[in-house]
Amino acid sequence: MDKISISVKNSEKQYEIMIGKSIPYKLASYLEKNHSSKKVAIITDDNLKPICNQKIADKLKGISSVIISIPPGEKSKSREMKAHIEDQLLGKKFGRDSVIVAVGGGVVGDISGFVASTYNRGIPLIHVPTTLLAMVDSSIGGKTSVNTEHGKNLIGSFYHPEAVFIDLDFLETIPKEELVNGLAESIKMAVSMDSSFFNFIENNVQKILKKDSETLTFLIKKSIELKKNVIEQDEKEQGQRQVLNFGHTFGHAYEKYFQYTKKHGYCIGLGQLIESRISNLIGSLPIEDVQRLSNLLVTFGLPINLDKSIDIEKLIELMSMDKKSLGNVPQFVILKGIGMLKNGNGFSEEIDKEIIRKAIELSR
Ligand SMILES: NC(=O)c1ccc[n+]([C@@H]2O[C@H](COP(=O)([O-])OP(=O)(O)OC[C@H]3O[C@@H](n4cnc5c(N)ncnc54)[C@H](O)[C@@H]3O)[C@@H](O)[C@H]2O)c1
Ligand SMILES: [Zn+2]
Repeated sequence: MDKISISVKNSEKQYEIMIGKSIPYKLASYLEKNHSSKKVAIITDDNLKPICNQKIADKLKGISSVIISIPPGEKSKSREMKAHIEDQLLGKKFGRDSVIVAVGGGVVGDISGFVASTYNRGIPLIHVPTTLLAMVDSSIGGKTSVNTEHGKNLIGSFYHPEAVFIDLDFLETIPKEELVNGLAESIKMAVSMDSSFFNFIENNVQKILKKDSETLTFLIKKSIELKKNVIEQDEKEQGQRQVLNFGHTFGHAYEKYFQYTKKHGYCIGLGQLIESRISNLIGSLPIEDVQRLSNLLVTFGLPINLDKSIDIEKLIELMSMDKKSLGNVPQFVILKGIGMLKNGNGFSEEIDKEIIRKAIELSR
């Protein structure tokens, strides 16, 4: 089993990420050791509930636990669902001496984290991510949220888990499109921060797609380490953390344009290509590097062309309205090479709308 420790900036807090196999036994002994007298609420979604029963709840012999299951999918990440979970916890007399264990993808993780952060003014949270996206990205960094009709992730908090247990066995049942969805985030960390990791992904496409355990363990560990380096410097996205947003200025607008019917990884994969084209158009990134990224996206079946029907002006308008844009001018993280940022500190910069338009046109 591998362990990675994350330190929370400006606090004594630190949490451990355990990565390996047979993790449920480790989770059970962790809970027995640290929370034996507490009540455990396992929050999951309906697709995972049977696995949750078998793999997790069954192992918690001496601990009082309940499973709260929500319908799968992004729609469940709502204020109403948060209240529904809270009402169930209140109804079952969960008090301050409770622990939340979130077993699921990013949807379950984000809403459970938000519940944990406000329930009784905050109760311990443990993540058991079950999708690749949740393993490499959403379970780490402490961002929790729900969506509203005004947009995604607009209401939430920063709330760190007490521990994260990553069990590779969960990936056995993951369909290819979910695997690729998470891979897009690993590619983002590689292309913006680590050229040797990018080489590794290029050289191991087949092994990744076949879910080779050693290859995926390395991929997950490396992605987490890269994210760790960023969030330990900049917990709340005031500076360096912006690098994690590479591909996301375009990606978020594209997701919104299609009313969140396209998967996040597919949108930010295309976003990375468009944003690397922007980096090229302003003279920062060689065209060969844009091509390398494009080739890698293609090998995983990630799209590199925009939907033909797209209204580019509307897309640019959506980018200007992004919560990270300043004074209605969209901000972009700029690359100067594979694994190399133009602004070493990770800050994003304003880009002229004409350049954005051109970069988008090139992917039509
Ligand atoms: N907090 C953060 O920092 C952060 C970062 C990135 C994304 N996110 C959020 O994550 C969410 C997306 O997460 P996601 O991609 O994991 O989606 P998801 O949680 O909706 O999971 C995708 C689907 O896979 C199913 N599933 C989960 N684990 C499975 C398994 N082991 N086997 C088979 N099926 C399984 C789920 O039931 C669901 O139907 C978005 O809401 C996004 O905003 C948050
Ligand atoms: Zn993302």
